[in-house]
Amino acid sequence: MAATVVVGTQWGDEGKGKFTDLVAGQMSMVVRYQGGHNAGHTLVVDGESFALQLVPSGVLYPHVTPVIGNGVVVDPRVLLAEMDMLESRGVSTEKLRLSGNAHLILPYHQELDALHERHLGKNKLGTTKRGIGPAYADRSMRVGIRVQDLLDEKIFREKLRAALEHTNRVLTRVFNRLPVDADEVADEYLGTCAPRLAPHIADAVGLVHDELDRGGDVLMEGAQATFLDLDHGTYPFVTSSNPVAGGACTGAGIGPRDIDRVIGIAKAYVTRVGAGPFPTELFDEVGDHFVEVSHEYGTNTGRRRRPGWLDAVMLRYAARVNSLSELAITKLDILDQLETIRVCVAYEADGERYDQLPYHQSVLHRATPVYEDLPGWGVDLSDVTERSQLPREAEDYLAFVEQQVGVPVDMVGVGPGRHQVLRFAA
Ligand code: IMP
Repeated sequence: MAATVVVGTQWGDEGKGKFTDLVAGQMSMVVRYQGGHNAGHTLVVDGESFALQLVPSGVLYPHVTPVIGNGVVVDPRVLLAEMDMLESRGVSTEKLRLSGNAHLILPYHQELDALHERHLGKNKLGTTKRGIGPAYADRSMRVGIRVQDLLDEKIFREKLRAALEHTNRVLTRVFNRLPVDADEVADEYLGTCAPRLAPHIADAVGLVHDELDRGGDVLMEGAQATFLDLDHGTYPFVTSSNPVAGGACTGAGIGPRDIDRVIGIAKAYVTRVGAGPFPTELFDEVGDHFVEVSHEYGTNTGRRRRPGWLDAVMLRYAARVNSLSELAITKLDILDQLETIRVCVAYEADGERYDQLPYHQSVLHRATPVYEDLPGWGVDLSDVTERSQLPREAEDYLAFVEQQVGVPVDMVGVGPGRHQVLRFAA
């Protein structure tokens, strides 16, 4: 069997968690391949809601092995707190496996994230301040500390001391802060985190390949999204990893030929948190409608998300760079009350029309969206369970999106519950 990838096609918060959870039910293994606890999604199962940041969605199914891949940056304290939360609510985390090659987020990464943001002033990126960027930066500088280092006290202390030599200089001389005491950090992480995480630390690449070899179904769960990708997003207003489908290869140790299905998750409108260009951004009552009706506030940080119309130009790019095999449209029900629904089909800038994403980002800053207006359906979709029950206008809307993006829509979300998903034949 081959692997399936679930990837966000916009700026995150597309409702990936719910669809990943749904697809995860049919899988034997779910692997997170990048990001850290900057992600956050809420799953509603039998009216109970679970907020997950690091543990892969599949954890809620007893038959699924959840794996945190090497491409993830892991804050051990956050991971343990999440495992405790799940255990206290009757969800076993015994099968959770954590790649020994994943990098750790340590307290100084979080401090540096906040300091960098403050230092940038009005140019700040609007990060989640979880230490994601600094942890990946240490990885690239080759002073990162990996999960496997927790298993060897001597190595952990040595690497930490080496890493802090540089970091403490930055903290004290650039930011005028107190230095971090290597022994204090080592005592805490070796004393409390290492023994608890040790039984979960594993050869994740080996596990994934054994599962594929034995014919299992493996789901690769991306966090964030295509336009927050370090290479393909609206740089520098991006995260520090590769959420695109290719990130599953590097972040979980599989090759491109191991993937045969890539599901792109797209919300029926768009939101973004933090700074950066956003051609279809809305500042009117329709935008307020998206935010209020769908409660578009960050799961992690509580920040109000910036709302906008669906952008097919972005989706075309996402289809290309992820080689999407299908689209899942989330939150279609949020459009229920709108008389007219707009879809951006191209941009215009400096008298030129762009059907594909302009490679030069300054164009994106001054681009004006070219909209097609579609009639709304004015019917509550939250109780619809079959495609045949969809009003004609909703069908037409979905067909329009398929035609604009060139990718079939295979699933549609009409509410937060697991059952509120319409599945279309592939
Ligand atoms: P970082 O990932 O914390 O470094 O933040 C970099 C950018 O990515 C900021 O604009 C964040 O708001 C955004 N971001 C990071 N994680 C998420 C997410 O899960 N959903 C939406 N935006 C995110």
